[in-house]
Amino acid sequence: KQCDIGFIGLGVMGSNLTLNIADHGYRVACFDLDQNKVDAILAKDKAERGQQAARVEGCNSYTELLSKLKSPHLIILSVPAGEPVDHVCHHLIDAGVQADDIVVDTGNSLWTDSVQREEKYKGKFIFFSTAVSGGEVGARFGPSLMPSGNPYAWTRIEPVLKAIAAKVDPDTGKPIESFSPGNPVKDGEPCATYIGPVGAGHYVKMVHNGIEYADMQLICEAYHIMRTAFSMTPADIAQTFRQWNQGKLNSYLMEISAEVLEQQDPETEQPLVDVILDKAGQKGTGLWTAVSALQVGSPAQTITSAVFARSLSSLKDERVTASTQLTGPQQQQLTEQEKHSAISQLEHALYCSKICAYAQGFQLMATAAKEHGWELDFAEIAKIWRAGCIIRAVFLQSIATAYEQDENLANLLLAPYFSEQIAEYQSDWRQSVSQATLNGIPCPAMMSAISYYDSYRTAVLPASLLQGQRDYFGAHTYQRVDKPSGKKFHIQWSDPARPQVAIKK
Ligand code: 6PG
Repeated sequence: KQCDIGFIGLGVMGSNLTLNIADHGYRVACFDLDQNKVDAILAKDKAERGQQAARVEGCNSYTELLSKLKSPHLIILSVPAGEPVDHVCHHLIDAGVQADDIVVDTGNSLWTDSVQREEKYKGKFIFFSTAVSGGEVGARFGPSLMPSGNPYAWTRIEPVLKAIAAKVDPDTGKPIESFSPGNPVKDGEPCATYIGPVGAGHYVKMVHNGIEYADMQLICEAYHIMRTAFSMTPADIAQTFRQWNQGKLNSYLMEISAEVLEQQDPETEQPLVDVILDKAGQKGTGLWTAVSALQVGSPAQTITSAVFARSLSSLKDERVTASTQLTGPQQQQLTEQEKHSAISQLEHALYCSKICAYAQGFQLMATAAKEHGWELDFAEIAKIWRAGCIIRAVFLQSIATAYEQDENLANLLLAPYFSEQIAEYQSDWRQSVSQATLNGIPCPAMMSAISYYDSYRTAVLPASLLQGQRDYFGAHTYQRVDKPSGKKFHIQWSDPARPQVAIKK
């Protein structure tokens, strides 16, 4: 019994997390149903650390894994979300896990599944959830971690998670990076913070992914506008993205978008982006975010538009047919001078739209937190997204600061910094979005973002007419601006005298 941690599931994420944990001095016993994966990680550990210093031990059963662990056991799972998590949990029960053992799920699980699992496994072991972002490189050298669940379990796992998490330089707010095996980053602020009761961490990760969908779609729309309306090549656009990446739009997604656009296809030597089929995949976390936003009634149209944009992209055959039947406007030709200023406007349009997407994500978390009784610390959440995760960006430092200045901020758009930023750039934003529409170039996420902004800042919306419509056909009642809130009225639309009645509760 010499291993500190048991690790089950040695796919790309699991094996990289295991090596990351071992880098920080922990001895890890690992197991996968596929023995080849166990052999592969042992070989990797030895290659990186040397035979004598190897810290990973292989197991060929759940029982063997438990037999190698110090008590109480700490076991981390990295298996596909859904049924496989329960499958492993049942095997662990059969193998003899105890009530004070801790099992940590790190998959992209649906947050409600985590809530149910804590309840379901009570008395058998402590189920704890930790959402992980950062893809395979993040898992290996420092992910962003969103742990939630039993506070005792957190005290046990905290040192491990804080050690393996991505680190931020507290002075600059930027990631401290090292991609050298066996030589991890030790200093800096770790991108791991206790989020709250079980499920809260996976909820926050789900919203992270919803924001990720919006962020990616917005970048794709900027690319599409430059490609179509400005006739720019992928290489030109990559260069523009690199310039934008030096400023307020600095982010991992901007950086990798430039790299994707620069990539040549090894087969045809054209830009790879031109041979990649334009049908977007999705594993479901963006959809979950959109569904949750609809359920709790928190407007998140830019995130939802991004999910729909993926769905519409997948209707490739229909789009190809429609492209020969449905007309659009004549493309306007731009002079070099006009193109130059349109690119700068587009940078600001992307930035303002991005602020709205994040505002929606944070607003959604706040609404859900109220509904579920979670006390989410939004400044901390923004901080742990500054490094390690897919949406990492300098911008998150400004979000953290906004919530540090006002922890009860109703909406990010109301933070003085962001309201000033949008005031400064909104005319460029409006120009870009209207030019795209005039040219018939779809930009659903940018358009939804500007409508979100305009709706949010409008004191009187046409929902008054809507309430009238509802009352007309369904006697659904309305409230009046000049009567106490909550008091309901109905007018008898079919009666020529239109008597109004106050509805008694
Ligand atoms: C992350 C990513 C990760 C994964 C998404 C992609 O934070 O590391 O979000 O979780 O890349 O699941 O999801 P889609 O396949 O739906 O784009």
